[in-house]
Amino acid sequence: MSVERGELLSIVGSSGSGKTTLLNLLAGLDTPTSGVVGFEGMSLINMTRRERAAYRAHKVGMVFQSFNLIAHYTALQNVEMALLFNDTQPKERRRLSIEILEQLGLSDRITHRPSDLSGGEQQRVAFARAIVKQPEILFADEPTGNLDFENTQQILSLLTSLNKNGLTIVLVTHNLEMAKANSHRIIRMQYGKIIADEQTAKEIHA
Ligand SMILES: Nc1ncnc2c1ncn2[C@@H]1O[C@H](COP(=O)(O)OP(=O)(O)OP(=O)(O)O)[C@@H](O)[C@H]1O
Ligand SMILES: [Mg+2]
Repeated sequence: MSVERGELLSIVGSSGSGKTTLLNLLAGLDTPTSGVVGFEGMSLINMTRRERAAYRAHKVGMVFQSFNLIAHYTALQNVEMALLFNDTQPKERRRLSIEILEQLGLSDRITHRPSDLSGGEQQRVAFARAIVKQPEILFADEPTGNLDFENTQQILSLLTSLNKNGLTIVLVTHNLEMAKANSHRIIRMQYGKIIADEQTAKEIHA
């Protein structure tokens, strides 16, 4: 499979079909036992550990199925963490992180710890952490899986606007209707294989 620049690609499939595994391979968090994963003509497989770490630190944003926020860090510290491996100076890390949290409507939650945040707020902190470094591609694993209708709509409009601003997004979701309404292309997985790969009516923004 390949992902095009500017695309919002959804991956759907039942539980255990391999969606998270695929995302982890694309994001360089996992290495395949066979086959190749490439980014802009470079093979992730042939990269050194250091090069792969740089790919993750600079190019890739990731939102995990379970938010994966650090429990004893505040919202702000969780977001700043993403810039630790990104050659960003401490003051700039703080400024950028506050800015993005504000953009996501979390200005009054900056010093809260994850346990004091709602599910939707935690997910927005996870998004802030993923996009604060301005990645080239965002992988989001069921980002609305545990959210109610209102929070789901918020995350969807966030994804759509990020994508309109040029961010390439690969979104894993159980919800085929949601995928159809929001993405340019849908890949369906079953038992670890891609069984369908179809464009939707939506067009990629130039
Ligand atoms: N680290 C692992 N080692 C071995 N098998 C694994 C590992 N992680 C997942 N699996 C297995 O690989 C298959 C695919 O798992 P994966 O997590 O990719 O599914 P998924 O499509 O993301 O499911 P869900 O919708 O429930 O999140 C499953 O059968 C799972 O049990
Ligand atoms: Mg999964």
